[in-house]
Amino acid sequence: MSHLADALRPGPPVFGEGCDEPYRRHLRSRRSGRLHLHRSSPPGDGGQRRETGTSWELDTLRAPADSADTSAIAGVEGPLLDVGCGPGRMVRAALHHGLEALGVDVAPEAAQACADRGARAVRGSVFDALPREGHWRTVLLMDGNLGIGGDPGALFARCADLLAPGGVLVVEADADEHADEDGWFVVVDDDGASSAPFRWARLGLRALRTALHRSGFEEVEVRRAGARCFVHAGWQR
Ligand SMILES: C[S@@+](CC[C@H](N)C(=O)[O-])C[C@H]1O[C@@H](n2cnc3c(N)ncnc32)[C@H](O)[C@@H]1O
Repeated sequence: MSHLADALRPGPPVFGEGCDEPYRRHLRSRRSGRLHLHRSSPPGDGGQRRETGTSWELDTLRAPADSADTSAIAGVEGPLLDVGCGPGRMVRAALHHGLEALGVDVAPEAAQACADRGARAVRGSVFDALPREGHWRTVLLMDGNLGIGGDPGALFARCADLLAPGGVLVVEADADEHADEDGWFVVVDDDGASSAPFRWARLGLRALRTALHRSGFEEVEVRRAGARCFVHAGWQR
């Protein structure tokens, strides 16, 4: 997508966008580092951004996939769609496992980083029209990506549309087992560069299970790897 089309993209900022553009800077620099997610006041709220102390770290340029990542997708079937794929760590891991895999990410730098690393990705929102809707055997929501859009129920319903009957949604729960919040957040890097506020959500295992059940998914398995936790949930149309 061109810079003009990018600038004209409708809607509020998404993850890491706006202000100092910390996520884009992070992706462009190709250096490793960490991003921090903080609660924030809504946009236009007196121009003040308020960190509430709720935060966690995102190691977005971690590569290659580590053993926790690979344990999350062990035994899953392709084709696999990684929603919010970033620079393509999980797409590459899936390819390494012999799976047909595609990433989707709204950040152009993420899709480009994927391509540069030999992984296929489309640039766009998970809520836009996507290839092979209703035919993906596995859909991934890793690295806190259940927060995309700030409404996990709407996101899970969208993932259900993307999945083939009998397909599996793999969702990473928040490291805080009791996390259950949605609202406005900002991304801040180690230099203090901050994004504009965007809608996001966090669900620990307990709230995630409830949300998946409400969305019509059937829990198949919970996998733990160190501090990380992944729920495999089946979809029957
Ligand atoms: C927490 S980061 C995780 C990135 C990636 N999984 C990784 O660890 O490298 C969230 C990702 O979701 C993407 N994203 C945010 N909103 C999205 C949307 N509506 N559709 C697709 N991707 C989205 C962001 O651009 C970002 O790359």
